[in-house]
Order: sequence, then structure tokens, then C-alpha cells
Amino acid sequence: MTNRTFTMIKPDAMRNGHAGAILDKITKSGYKIIALKQTKLSLEKAGEFYEVHKERPFYGELTQFMSSGVIIAAILEKENAVADFRTLIGATDPSKADEGTIRKLFATSLGENAVHGSDSDENAKIEGDFFFSGLERF
Ligand code: CMP
Repeated sequence: MTNRTFTMIKPDAMRNGHAGAILDKITKSGYKIIALKQTKLSLEKAGEFYEVHKERPFYGELTQFMSSGVIIAAILEKENAVADFRTLIGATDPSKADEGTIRKLFATSLGENAVHGSDSDENAKIEGDFFFSGLERF
């Protein structure tokens, strides 16, 4: 399904109390929530989700962090969802993110950058399927 993307509100933003403000910004930017849940990744599940980064030096840090607390996972729908959502969240490194973007407003650091956004339609489908069954999408 095109026009859909997948996001997570990461443990730093959850701990810092930014979940409500981030969801508000997402819905006010025109995204319809197709599926949404609060959950917590085990270290093993975080490793599976980020398998593509397995050889990167930050893989251990990334999977430890992503399993360190609760997250919110969601599938979002809007025209041009993947590209527009990456604009809305801003650069991976919050110090390089544009003013007004979610990472500029709410992220802590490169490793703890508040939100995830899929980088392609193909990965949006894979990532959404990782968290949600057909019965959880509306
Ligand atoms: P995201 O794009 O959501 O998914 C991969 C994550 O890896 C990325 O966000 C960053 O949080 C993290 N990441 C990328 N580069 C580094 C790095 N050099 N050190 C630590 N974490 C990183």
C-alpha cells in the first residue's frame, strides 16, 4: 500500500513526556492514524527490527536504547506519506534538523532522536507488518 508510512515514538521522547505533542503535530500535519499501539521491544526484537544496521558500529547502542523503555508504534496515511513524514521529522541528527521539525523540537541526540520514519514504501510495509496484524488496522 503506497501513501502509508510507519513511525515509532522512541523511548527518549516517551520518557520526556513528548508523546502527546508529537502525535498532535502528526495529526495536525494531515496524517490519518491507521494503527497505533504502546509497546516495548525486547533486545531481541529491537535487533530484528534494526537487522539492516547489524554491521554498523552503533547497532549495540541502538538496540539497547530502543529496548530501554516503552515506545508508540503507528501506521500513518497521507498522500506522499514516506517523503513528507521524513520532512516533518527532520534530519537524523537533531542538531542538523530544520526549525519546527519534530526532531528539532523533541530529540535529544543522534542516537536518541525521538522518532522513527520509514525511508521507503517497501520498508514502511515491512515495518508496519512487524508491529501490526490486519485486525489492528482501520
Ligand atoms: P532512525 O533513522 O530512526 O533508525 C536508525 C537509527 O540509528 C537512527 O534513527 C539513529 O537514531 C541511529 N543512529 C544513526 N547513526 C548513529 C550513530 N552514529 N550513533 C548512534 N546512533 C545512530
